[in-house]
Amino acid sequence: MYRTHTCGELRIEQVNQAVQLCGWVQKIRNLGAMTFIDLRDRYGITQLVVEESAVAGVREAAATLGREYVIRIKGRVVERSSKNSKIPTGDIEVILEDLRILNASELPPFTIEEQTDGGDELRMKYRYLDLRRAVVRKNLELRHRMAHLIRNYLDSQRFMEVETPVLIKSTPEGARDFVVPSRMNPGQFYALPQSPQTFKQLLMVAGFDRYYQIVKCFRDEDLRADRQPEFTQIDCEMSFVEREDVLTVFEGMTQHLFQKIKGIELERFPRMSWAEAMERYGSDKPDLRFGMAFTELTGLTKGKGFSVFDNAEYIGAVCAPGCAKYTRKQTDELTDFVKRPQIGAKGLVYVRWNEDGSLKSSVDKFYGEEELKKWGEACGAKPGDLLLLLCGDKKSTLPQLCELRLEMGNRLGLRNKERFCPLWVVDFPLLEWDEESQRFYAMHHPFTSPNPEDEGLMESRPGEVRANAYDLVINGVEIGGGSIRIHDTALQSRMFNCLGFTEEEAQKQFGFLLNAFRYGAPPHGGIAFGFDRLVSLFVGLDSIRDTIAFPKNNSGRDVMIDTPSEISPVQLEELNIELTAPKA
Ligand code: AMO
Repeated sequence: MYRTHTCGELRIEQVNQAVQLCGWVQKIRNLGAMTFIDLRDRYGITQLVVEESAVAGVREAAATLGREYVIRIKGRVVERSSKNSKIPTGDIEVILEDLRILNASELPPFTIEEQTDGGDELRMKYRYLDLRRAVVRKNLELRHRMAHLIRNYLDSQRFMEVETPVLIKSTPEGARDFVVPSRMNPGQFYALPQSPQTFKQLLMVAGFDRYYQIVKCFRDEDLRADRQPEFTQIDCEMSFVEREDVLTVFEGMTQHLFQKIKGIELERFPRMSWAEAMERYGSDKPDLRFGMAFTELTGLTKGKGFSVFDNAEYIGAVCAPGCAKYTRKQTDELTDFVKRPQIGAKGLVYVRWNEDGSLKSSVDKFYGEEELKKWGEACGAKPGDLLLLLCGDKKSTLPQLCELRLEMGNRLGLRNKERFCPLWVVDFPLLEWDEESQRFYAMHHPFTSPNPEDEGLMESRPGEVRANAYDLVINGVEIGGGSIRIHDTALQSRMFNCLGFTEEEAQKQFGFLLNAFRYGAPPHGGIAFGFDRLVSLFVGLDSIRDTIAFPKNNSGRDVMIDTPSEISPVQLEELNIELTAPKA
């Protein structure tokens, strides 16, 4: 037997017991007469003591130890004279009677402790060492717990987990596919699933009624903090349901997770139409932990000789509560912020509504106090507040105001990571016009059904058709999205038609689904949650990377296994692939 206990287990109750422990040497402190060793495993840290009176073998072995050596010890638990309240085992230590080195370790490239001196790239290269750090490991423990709770919850709701294939044909989720060449079918390729969308719909045709899968999805898209090329979805589909049925089940699942993990009882999730979210927050994923919704001031501001406003299609404001006292330096900082190329505003107009009731603006030349006050009142401002105005064409100004609002939320400390504000965003547009290719794209995916009352507009005014689609947004993060699907071949053909597919193209790409619909497809709908994002929300991380055991970096590389990488000429030949020199 290697061990009687783990390194996180021993307490004052075990004093005087003989124990055996195994683990990694985290730290060695040699105080001459005595040596202290911190022994670590997944469960915690236990302090070991080599006394002067220890047998020679133990003292000699202890003298050769280095960081991250794997050892097995035998010893006796004693109460510590100076206790460490920071760790659960801090009341005791173990006096060593035997010490075996199970494996030596090279000096690790960074310190494996709560705070590490290792930079990002180094930590990723030696991810297995990084994962020894409690801070990183805890995220994965939480991920495991959440997956377990989700499985139990969905099982209790009669969902059945079904695995769908990974070598498939392109699924249209809007990103590029990762492709895999087929050796047995020269010149042909599989695509890795961007989601199991079409398969879960086929499972509904198959009568499975309620399906779920915690599943890897692959998307070759530009990476950001909340995007990985391979990520995990909690993918679900249900038959004989309307939107309300899907929202109820998945609101329930989300509440269940918050209750079990955070001890938070979330109230019913509010709903907001996509149009309102865009108009008031400039985003389809508004962060509702704070207010500061936009007020349109176009009508109140135009026609006073200020050409910037006069020439603008849209003028909108956010009211920053209590910020009238902002200094010139602070308002300049905000101006610089909105003028950054990533945001792209031309400038910022501000109005201070001072505590004494006076109003001062950066456009005093054009507007008197009375006018400024009207703006303030329209925004629901009061003395002490600061109005921030942006203008331009509406399509660009709304997202700029959104960035400004979020920045103010950060500055005012209103985006507390321990507060959770969920929201269902509903009634997305069905189609999105793309200027470049001069055609419509499905905003969600081509299997999403239109709102029944808008169906008649599909041919005449396609841009106005709302989709029977929904997103779950929490704290400004898109956690999940789904829709009620088209289950009727004729409607699906009309949808493909809107997307500019010819009959043949639709048959070629999705014939299997269209054919399946001919054999009694039930009404169905579903949703997929981004599991990595959900975990990172629970942990309070800004990036999903540390919720994933072996993530990719921002260039899509795994620097530990060094991939993507070249393959041998033999493999290339077998795959019938001839490489041309990469384009300069
Ligand atoms: P969608 O494309 O909205 O819907 O994806 C569902 C959720 O997956 C997460 N997500 C990602 N997470 C990390 N990295 C990525 N690259 C990434 N891309 C998406 C998001 C998102 O809300 N088949 C549909 C679902 C359905 O209709 O049922 C789908 O995949 O949290």
